Amino acid sequence: MMKLILLGLPGAGKGTQAKMIAGRLALVHVSTGDMFREAAAEGTALGKRAQQFMSRGELVPDEVTIEMLLERIARPDAQAGFMLDGFPRTLAQAQALDAALARRGAAIDAVLYIQVPEAELLGRLAGRLGCPQCGAIYHLQNRPPRRAGRCDECGSELTKRADDRAETVAERLRVNREQTEALVGYYAPAGKLHRVDGTGEPAQVTGRLLLVPDALSAEVQKA
Ligand code: AP5
Repeated sequence: MMKLILLGLPGAGKGTQAKMIAGRLALVHVSTGDMFREAAAEGTALGKRAQQFMSRGELVPDEVTIEMLLERIARPDAQAGFMLDGFPRTLAQAQALDAALARRGAAIDAVLYIQVPEAELLGRLAGRLGCPQCGAIYHLQNRPPRRAGRCDECGSELTKRADDRAETVAERLRVNREQTEALVGYYAPAGKLHRVDGTGEPAQVTGRLLLVPDALSAEVQKA
């Protein structure tokens, strides 16, 4: 029944880690970035609106994002727990999430803040490749696919994200840096924030992240 948030600047490894951790803990992985990209690929009104902001490296307005996320976590598959990746990104989003969970007598258990030096983030985003079909994430140097340009999982052609261009990345980092600091200030006093070193092999980072839910489970069992 765990409700976790993965916090981190663009390229910190939220998507990579969420796929590994959500599977291990049997949590639904909810990525607002993936939801917006899927809506854009389908050409829905929401997708077209979100695309305008994403292509500039800006945040999609709160009212759109909050409604979409709250609707997603109200679905039956999310009742047994979820891992949020890319949400919340603003204080208004964090407060709306807390209020919606409180109405069901629930709360966020932990916020895992993946920290990576910005110079490394730039290299990660410049070399990222993704599978538009199954969502697998690769990197030209750090995690190359077995066959160049093809997904290991489903064989589809890998693509670069439009917002990984250098000029858009600079704006994404600027916007997210400010917002992330505000979120740290919101969750730390509540004792929910856990800072995790996001450097090193992805499996090492997974091990560090899992220490937090493991400790929370141990506390619950002891009580
Ligand atoms: P979103 O899709 O959430 O993008 P992001 O936060 O910018 O994060 P990324 O997906 O770029 O990075 P990541 O941390 O997931 O890293 P990854 O695992 O891919 O959002 C995109 C846009 O949507 C936003 O800009 C905004 O416009 C909009 N949006 C989304 N949510 C919103 C919200 N709540 N409110 C408003 N707007 C919203 O890894 C990156 C690369 O590094 C990969 O190549 C990977 O292979 C590699 N890598 C991962 N881990 C390691 C490691 N340990 N060592 C070396 N390489 C690694």
